[in-house]
Amino acid sequence: MKGVVLAGGSGTRLKPLTEITNKHLLPIYDKPMISWAIGTLVSAGIDELMLVTGGTHAGEFLRLLGNGHNYGLERLLYAYQDKPGGIAEALGLAERFVGNDPVLVMLADNIVEYSVRHAVDNFNANPNGARIVLSKIDEPEHLKHLGVPELIDGKVVNIIEKPDNPPSSFCVTGIYMYDSSVFEIIKTLKPSGRGELEITDVNNHFIQKSAMAYDILEGFWGDAGESIDAYWKVNDFVRINGANKEK
Ligand code: G1P
Repeated sequence: MKGVVLAGGSGTRLKPLTEITNKHLLPIYDKPMISWAIGTLVSAGIDELMLVTGGTHAGEFLRLLGNGHNYGLERLLYAYQDKPGGIAEALGLAERFVGNDPVLVMLADNIVEYSVRHAVDNFNANPNGARIVLSKIDEPEHLKHLGVPELIDGKVVNIIEKPDNPPSSFCVTGIYMYDSSVFEIIKTLKPSGRGELEITDVNNHFIQKSAMAYDILEGFWGDAGESIDAYWKVNDFVRINGANKEK
């Protein structure tokens, strides 16, 4: 399985911290944010990875990560996103790198307490369609800032992005697994209200084809890019508990 880490965007919600650097280079406890996401993929068994980023700080990722060998990667490739066109557009840049392999995609501002190896093993056992990773969120207000699945009889029947009335108490985390048909789906997408190609639209395509499975994460999950408060909540958690731990 190949890995794609998405580290683009303009980090608007973390301004002014992101006036002077890329969001994913900001520290989470003792490491730049991006290092934790790479740790998540490596601990799940991925050793070939493409990092997609953009903007004026793209070169600093190369300076930090180099050829990836120090992070346990066999191969690390880079792609440059010209404009912040959304998560799905960024993933589209990895089409040739991924080829016909299954792919694990991760948003580099997501942090997990425990390794996602179990979910990856589940997808590898049947690497067709898509598999998402859900996390239980107790505060309904928080869900309004995320993608939220509607579940009927244990099946995901729809995902609503930033819902006014969250249809469940789970969020869709920024950890996604796909077969290579994902690239054909991306080509059919139209920009959303925020002018981006949305990963939620990609996931809803797979749901419509009855080709969507999911796992529920145990332990902490956080999106450090959601707000300054979320950024500090994730920092505090990782400083005390660590991340990407084996269960
Ligand atoms: C993105 C996805 C959303 C998901 C979230 C997880 O949101 O669109 O569905 O729940 O990542 O981090 P964004 O950070 O682009 O607002």
